[in-house]
Amino acid sequence: MLNIEKIRKDFPILQCTMHGKPLIYLDSSNTSQKPNGVIDAITHYYKNYNANIHRSIYELSAKATHLYEKTRTNIKEFINAKSTQEIIFTKGTTEAINLVASSLSFSEGDEIIVSTMEHHSNLVPWQKLGVKLRIIPISDKGELDLGAYQNLFNSHTKMVAITHASNVLGTINPIKEITKIAHQHQVAVLVDGAQAFPHLPVDVEDLDCDFYAFSSHKAYGPTGVGVLYGKKDLLEKMSPYQGGGNMIERVSLTDFTCNQLPYKFEAGTPNIADVIAFDAAINYIKSIGFENIMRHEQNLLHYATEKLNNIDGLRIIGNASKKLGVISFVMKEIHPHDIGTILDHEGIAVRAGHHCAMPLMERFKVPAMVRVSFGIYNTEKEIDHLSLALKTAERIFA
Ligand code: ALA
Repeated sequence: MLNIEKIRKDFPILQCTMHGKPLIYLDSSNTSQKPNGVIDAITHYYKNYNANIHRSIYELSAKATHLYEKTRTNIKEFINAKSTQEIIFTKGTTEAINLVASSLSFSEGDEIIVSTMEHHSNLVPWQKLGVKLRIIPISDKGELDLGAYQNLFNSHTKMVAITHASNVLGTINPIKEITKIAHQHQVAVLVDGAQAFPHLPVDVEDLDCDFYAFSSHKAYGPTGVGVLYGKKDLLEKMSPYQGGGNMIERVSLTDFTCNQLPYKFEAGTPNIADVIAFDAAINYIKSIGFENIMRHEQNLLHYATEKLNNIDGLRIIGNASKKLGVISFVMKEIHPHDIGTILDHEGIAVRAGHHCAMPLMERFKVPAMVRVSFGIYNTEKEIDHLSLALKTAERIFA
């Protein structure tokens, strides 16, 4: 069994109070809290290693470059990529998806398959291209209709862009199966892994996806860092995303040639300190182990689902058979924003709103939802407080 009290001590923010009450942080799908090791890594870098990377010959720069590249190697191994050339640092999942949308060549008439449960970040970059989006419908439980998916392919299909797990419903999608079907049609698959990456093991070779995008900040790491994994042969064919330092091999006044992968996609001075601290976050996850993380978060999911289902007028939206520790719900007579405010006064942080997934709100015919989402540091006791606060709200509004 995990010692959650010990884990909680690694996260200094969990000692804070809000409105005079102990903070109960139930918004890890939005951003996770950071353990001491990550916070210390940022300070340690600025105190001991701060220098620009890949550009200078002095020792300080070499040390900073080494640490930066060490994160890349750690991530390559963590997600089982074939080469560090397939690991591109971005500022987050959103930028990683935008990179692919900008750098792969699309033309009028191309079609991209997405699903109803996508985050705006996996819709708008494709919409901006002016291509046609074909939509995989979802059931009332919040599961993809794979039969309908198979019928969306035609000779115009250029890409499947799909979330590994829904940030609202918690649904974990069968990526391996989705990829297999797409590849039978010679179509590439991009996976938005922002939600899944911190909560379950990701093996890109096993999934066989062509691109996998994720963020550090939802995985106990700093904000402003993300990763695009891409298969080398595809990345080689893509044009650079941005122009500037480090993505070039040679420049003349009339043209340029690109640097090799992955630097071809890393123009400008990157977010060095936070990439280095992301390494500490990965090591933190490794030290706990996904088996333990998944067991704990699934226990919390089941415990909370049972508690919330016992509250009059509360309806959970998203009951997929495979779910992350995410529960979205609405309550009769109480607007989600009011619930968020009531909970805040009890020190409970949840997200209320459209969750950057407006099409999904339309699908379930609600303007907004309340969402609780768990991290490794949450406890059943915190869920008891949540349940009590919701019962009180229900009584007041009734
Ligand atoms: N930050 C977004 C969320 O809360 C993705 O789900």
